[in-house]
Amino acid sequence: MNSGHVELGRAQQERWEAAYARRPRLHGVGPSVAAEWAVGVFGAAGIDDVLELGAGHGRDALFLARQGFSVHATDFSEAALDQLRHEAQREGLDDRVTAALHDVRDPLPVADATVNAVFANVLLNMAFSPAELRALVAEIHRVLCPGGVFVYAVWSTADPCSRHWNRLDDGLSMHDGFVGRFFDESLVGELSEQWQLDETTPYDEGQRRMWRVTMTKPGPES
Ligand SMILES: C[S@@+](CC[C@H](N)C(=O)[O-])C[C@H]1O[C@@H](n2cnc3c(N)ncnc32)[C@H](O)[C@@H]1O
Repeated sequence: MNSGHVELGRAQQERWEAAYARRPRLHGVGPSVAAEWAVGVFGAAGIDDVLELGAGHGRDALFLARQGFSVHATDFSEAALDQLRHEAQREGLDDRVTAALHDVRDPLPVADATVNAVFANVLLNMAFSPAELRALVAEIHRVLCPGGVFVYAVWSTADPCSRHWNRLDDGLSMHDGFVGRFFDESLVGELSEQWQLDETTPYDEGQRRMWRVTMTKPGPES
């Protein structure tokens, strides 16, 4: 891995840690639009357990648990995960929600083909190099069972912020010390190689223009 990207990743981890420590419930308490969508998709597929990546303080993990799913939530901010665990306990959901510190630039600590569903709201558009992003999507593919479903949401290049943020290398942009990537539809398409791409939907969430993507890991018969 390029040392510039290692440094960038470390700096971003510190940035997120400080943001969560400074402002509990940073992303609010209600679920994301993508999590509300994912409930229907996972439910229709008969799935009742979800691996959530980049879960933050757990607004979506807790929402999914309230809908009856078992959720294993990961993030690279311990401050965020502490808040998640505290809320899960407060709501009596700690039997259905577990949380673990994990940086998704490292391999997922999960065996091949053992997970039924992966959910990631506004994680893939964080500060990953193109190679790190491809490696992450390959890891998600590896851990999903055949027929397993991946729902993710990312910022779109149609978001007006994409024009105002400072441009960095590798298609990344920076604002207020936070680094991210705005996705166009062709990047969504590139990341869906090896997958069945079920839907790619543009939508608005607050001020943000987003893409929501649902992909299935093909089974042996497909
Ligand atoms: C925009 S927030 C979204 C949080 C949550 N999904 C939500 O919608 O409330 C992005 C999250 O990704 C996490 N994150 C960024 N880079 C990460 C990495 N390399 N490994 C694990 N988590 C990461 C951050 O700590 C942060 O919690």
